[in-house]
Amino acid sequence: MQKLFQLLLLVAALCQGTKTLAQQNSIFIYSPNERSGLHAAVQDSTGAWHHLGQLCSSDYGTWGVEKRMYHPSLCRAHDGSWRLVFQVNDCSPLFAAAYSADLVTWRPQDYPQVVTPNCLAPVVHPAGDGFEITYRSGDAHYRVKATPDFRHFTAGERMTDSDVQQINGALQIEDRFTVDGQAYAGQKFELTAGEMTRIRQFFLERAEDGRKSSERMHDDAKNLTGLPAVVNATFTVNANSQKPISDKLIGIFFEDISYAADGGLYAELVQNRDFEYSAKDHGGWKATTAWHSTRPIEIATEHPLHPNNPHYALLWPDTLWNEGWDGIAVEAGKKYDFSMYVLAGGQKQSFLIQLTSEDGTVLASSKLKTAAKDWQQYATVLTAQKSDAKARLVIIPQKAAHVGIDMVSLFPQETFMNRKNGLRKDLAKTIAALQPKFVRFPGGCMSHGQGLDNIYHWNHTVGPLQERKPDFNIWHYHQTRGLGFFEYFQFCEDIGAEPLPVLAAGVPCQNSAANAEGIGGQQGGIPMDQMPAYIDELCNLIEWANGDPATNEWAKMRADAGHPEPFNLKYLGIGNEDIISTVFEERYEMICKAIRQRYPYIKICGTVGPFHTPSADYIEGWDFTRKHPDLQYMTDEHYYESTGWFMHHRDYYDSYPRELGVRSYELGVNGQPAGQLLTPNSSLLTPKVYLGEWAASTREKRPNIETALAEALYLTDIERNGDIVEMTSYAPMLCKDGHSNWNPDMIYFSNTDIRITPAYEVQRLFSCNSGDRWIQSRFSIDNPQLSAQLKHRIGASLVVDSKSGKKFLKLVNALPTTLQVTVEGILLPTPLQCEQLTGKVDDQQAHAEIITTDSPTTLPPYCLRVIEL
Ligand code: AHR
Repeated sequence: MQKLFQLLLLVAALCQGTKTLAQQNSIFIYSPNERSGLHAAVQDSTGAWHHLGQLCSSDYGTWGVEKRMYHPSLCRAHDGSWRLVFQVNDCSPLFAAAYSADLVTWRPQDYPQVVTPNCLAPVVHPAGDGFEITYRSGDAHYRVKATPDFRHFTAGERMTDSDVQQINGALQIEDRFTVDGQAYAGQKFELTAGEMTRIRQFFLERAEDGRKSSERMHDDAKNLTGLPAVVNATFTVNANSQKPISDKLIGIFFEDISYAADGGLYAELVQNRDFEYSAKDHGGWKATTAWHSTRPIEIATEHPLHPNNPHYALLWPDTLWNEGWDGIAVEAGKKYDFSMYVLAGGQKQSFLIQLTSEDGTVLASSKLKTAAKDWQQYATVLTAQKSDAKARLVIIPQKAAHVGIDMVSLFPQETFMNRKNGLRKDLAKTIAALQPKFVRFPGGCMSHGQGLDNIYHWNHTVGPLQERKPDFNIWHYHQTRGLGFFEYFQFCEDIGAEPLPVLAAGVPCQNSAANAEGIGGQQGGIPMDQMPAYIDELCNLIEWANGDPATNEWAKMRADAGHPEPFNLKYLGIGNEDIISTVFEERYEMICKAIRQRYPYIKICGTVGPFHTPSADYIEGWDFTRKHPDLQYMTDEHYYESTGWFMHHRDYYDSYPRELGVRSYELGVNGQPAGQLLTPNSSLLTPKVYLGEWAASTREKRPNIETALAEALYLTDIERNGDIVEMTSYAPMLCKDGHSNWNPDMIYFSNTDIRITPAYEVQRLFSCNSGDRWIQSRFSIDNPQLSAQLKHRIGASLVVDSKSGKKFLKLVNALPTTLQVTVEGILLPTPLQCEQLTGKVDDQQAHAEIITTDSPTTLPPYCLRVIEL
């Protein structure tokens, strides 16, 4: 009897256990509010629901007003994978659709367009092989059909009343539970034990990753107590074992952000020289912004200098002056080229052109006589008698007659390499000192633009300045395009860097605001019937850069601009951290196929979105890239992260698959493109990595020794992985004081000063001491316990430049104590001269210095040291 009782108890316990297990495999999916995206809750053994983590969030439209998720609805496909739809707002003719195999990683969202002006409360459910989405608009319900892969959708058809009644149950959100004390509507699903384990594991790993990524050198005094005064480590070199690595690891990212181009690197000193500013550029801006006069300035458009520059100023005998970019910095003894176009209808006119101080002191003066009938350019030279950091350009007509003026320009004669329409000498020299192996331009987000109409068209930026097409800048100011593709290519040539233009993949920035039809984000992409013209535009760039002026009209433009020799373009980026949606993939593939077919020697660079793994765009982007290895040579990764993240992800590229096949790119002799496709079957090719935007950041959002050392540590691992990582560029590069769109940046500047940062120093030290072979080595802390705790805080890399035979050893100590390194396998002569960057972790001003030392491998706390051997 007792045995029977015990048996019953055991059965009861087992049943209880089974019940608990079943409860623990339920998942409740809900959205706490429209800004928070989709979340999951799981039950504890008492059946109470607890928040587990965020599954995904809305990627639709512009930051701030959009990125909302309303009425999420999920269903499971027959194979267990997930489909999600949600409403993005109440005024756009589209809904959001996403797919997930495991509920925690999601394919990038698509935004299928529907026939109705808006799309409310969409609900998804399986139907046949595919899915059906029903939604409401006005008083009616509509049905959209989706393919099984959730890639293609019909535009929606109106449902009959009986259809609606039939499906009514499915139109409601079904479940309501209390999660951690708060009631939510959502959906409950049963998972298998295996699925639940994987999901829980995913969130545990994310939490652990977050914990590690929050580690800061700034907190070392608090967190790293009890360390010995000296930590011993050993660097062991196997000089006989080397591998080829990229000789283009360090380049620069140039984007007109934070006044990097107009008002920055582009040496033009007149602001709004073409009178084309408007409220599209910046709220409140207009054709007269930055201009001042004794009377209201008259703006005309009747007889424009060029249709791309419709506005000009009509002068009466009133004094007109331009404030420049936060003033005009003028230096005594220096010469300045003044020019402007004048429309005087044949009347004689003369102008006094002056540079003056704010108090009216004349710094430079010259006269200009004009008499032309139609628009004509006049020029004179101003020589400054005195210096002034905040001068003005003054134009004083000498006779009472109406004249039009446009394209009013003032350039220092001393530009970088003394180029006309050139670059600010001091800034360009600072950039050149980085010895960048390539220059990426013109962005960033500026490449793909705010909406379809703002996509950067390279051909709008070449030719005579007055014919270039200015546009608004996604960073809320104006692009004159005076610094256009000709100037970018010329700069690359002047500093010996490969040009890497990055142009849109037929889609604008995913964060774009809605167009006139209420469609935001990628706005559906360039319409398919316009894609052939867009592809031609990209191919024309290759002709313009590399073609023969005798046979090609685009190449002739380049020659007419003063550069008959080809620019020898080898790389072309297509897309910038786009959402890897169906709209993107379709267009990207079309573009790449056309370029590969017509210009097989061009190395195309793709994109995998704005974040590292496990972001949706990264996963889908790499999936697409690896499925189409023939389309691109490399792909562009972006990640801005904490110093802790960089220190704890130094193995990021260790497991990337390496190339197995022969690359199908080849250049002929003398740098001329040969256009040969070497390997027709390129299925074994593995695209390389271009880490196109990256920077370490802290709460202070300024480069300092902490961020610089995190970057230096990461770069030692990039060098080790230089067989798969082809290029890297810190971003953004430039930021003008008072006009910051983004922090941290590598170089800060005003009209008169340039402040390089510790981030700049790290880039320079790695770039100027680079090699093309990595020499096998190991670096570890001698004490095993300390090593387990702190191995992520030390780094070393030894590379050799096979042309010069020079070897470069980089040692990084990101510890608060001295690091004493024993070197095995190579000889280090002493005393030895080397360059080092060191300082207190919060130091933003630290510069690298050359030192001579008897103990080159004894590093002070927080130090990067570069030794040439
Ligand atoms: O580097 C600044 C911006 O960051 C770039 O424009 C964009 O690509 C990224 O989001």
